[in-house]
Amino acid sequence: MIQFPKDFIWGTATSSYQIEGAVKEDGRGESIWDRFCRIPGKVRNKENGDIACNHYHLYDDDVKLIKSLGVQSYRFSVAWSRIFPEGTGKPNPKGLDFYKRLINSLLENEIEPLLTLYHWDLPQLLQDKGGWMNRDMTDYFTDYATYLYQELGNQVKKWGTHNEPWVVSYKGYSLGNAAPGYVDFRSHLKASHHLLLSHGKAAQAFRELGPKGGEIGITLNIEPTYPLEDNEECKKAAAIKDGFSNRWFLDPVLKGSYPQDMVDIYSKFETFDYIKDGDFEVMSSPTDFLGVNYYSISTNKPGTQGELGFLGVESVKTGKPVTFMDWEVEPQGLVDTLQRIKADYGDIPVYITENGAAYEDQVDEDGTINDEDRRAYIEMHLKACKDAIDAGVNLKGYYLWSLMDNFEWRYGYSKRFGMVRVDYDTLKRTPKNSALWYKTVIEANGFNQTK
Ligand code: FCB
Repeated sequence: MIQFPKDFIWGTATSSYQIEGAVKEDGRGESIWDRFCRIPGKVRNKENGDIACNHYHLYDDDVKLIKSLGVQSYRFSVAWSRIFPEGTGKPNPKGLDFYKRLINSLLENEIEPLLTLYHWDLPQLLQDKGGWMNRDMTDYFTDYATYLYQELGNQVKKWGTHNEPWVVSYKGYSLGNAAPGYVDFRSHLKASHHLLLSHGKAAQAFRELGPKGGEIGITLNIEPTYPLEDNEECKKAAAIKDGFSNRWFLDPVLKGSYPQDMVDIYSKFETFDYIKDGDFEVMSSPTDFLGVNYYSISTNKPGTQGELGFLGVESVKTGKPVTFMDWEVEPQGLVDTLQRIKADYGDIPVYITENGAAYEDQVDEDGTINDEDRRAYIEMHLKACKDAIDAGVNLKGYYLWSLMDNFEWRYGYSKRFGMVRVDYDTLKRTPKNSALWYKTVIEANGFNQTK
């Protein structure tokens, strides 16, 4: 039996835009994802989050569902534009009330909330002011965070500032395949700076105005990078990729600086004039935990093709099995990631705030969904968590992505990550076999290894 520490937290995760729907109800303001989904060609099948899983209305059933699976903690995000429809200024009590009802329902069912302040759905009116390119965003974000600390801090003890700022700035401002859809690498650098600065400011405000005994952290997506071959050129490519996707975010938050090798590389086209005195101190304000979202690895060689060709890096597939996202399955990457965080950044408590897999599920005639590939993925990654714990990593909990199938951003509803199936015609929820297995894991605080 693979046995977890007694106080290990078993959770599951979602995000506001991906599940809530009800985008025009109770005074919610437009978000950048509402807008982005309307740009032709940006989201598969012109899909959007207008209805999504209708969680806004079905939240009470969803909490019961979480409870029925034995899950102990629920990570969700707040839609900023429900709280401040204009992003700043006058709060909207009806929007706040939804989260109060959700949180009360969680607490009544003894499920611990982990609230993420920002999972990508910026109020459109703030985007109209430049979005994360505008340094003022760091103050608007802190005001929004502080308002929620004061309104919800009695009930919510675990808080996350941002979810995956790399995706927000790189995909949103440079690749252009996430909202707001800009295509300019320098904008990515500037936006990432403001995102991390806003994290630091909100973390400082938490110390002053947040709940006593509460915890605040940030969630970063970490993709360990490996050289394709064991030679200097491939190692250099892997190091650049690591600097680009991982260290650019880990270092400011946990070390208070940007990685010098990347500053040198980016200095060819960026002057960093947006960095102000004292920023690094703020960005590295002490936090209580690091959230890690882990899905896959990246393997690298020198080259000029593809997204990072301009940095001399090409990432390649290595023939490992892939999920329906075409992401290679490599649980060892999670062990390496966790050990590396400890070695390079110290013994900060870590939660896996997301891990999971999309597969093409089949519904059997009797209605069961035997998603063995997803179950096996989860099992292998839980084993990786246990290996990391045994190696001394301070890993405190695991949040499975996702509670239920939902709006998977530019892929629309075509990629199902849920342990619970959502029938998008009826919105009926049906636990898949992976969910039933996860329940047994939680009950036993461990599992018998089959993979
Ligand atoms: C992460 C996101 C989450 C979901 C998963 C599959 O990057 O945080 O919302 O889309 O990927």
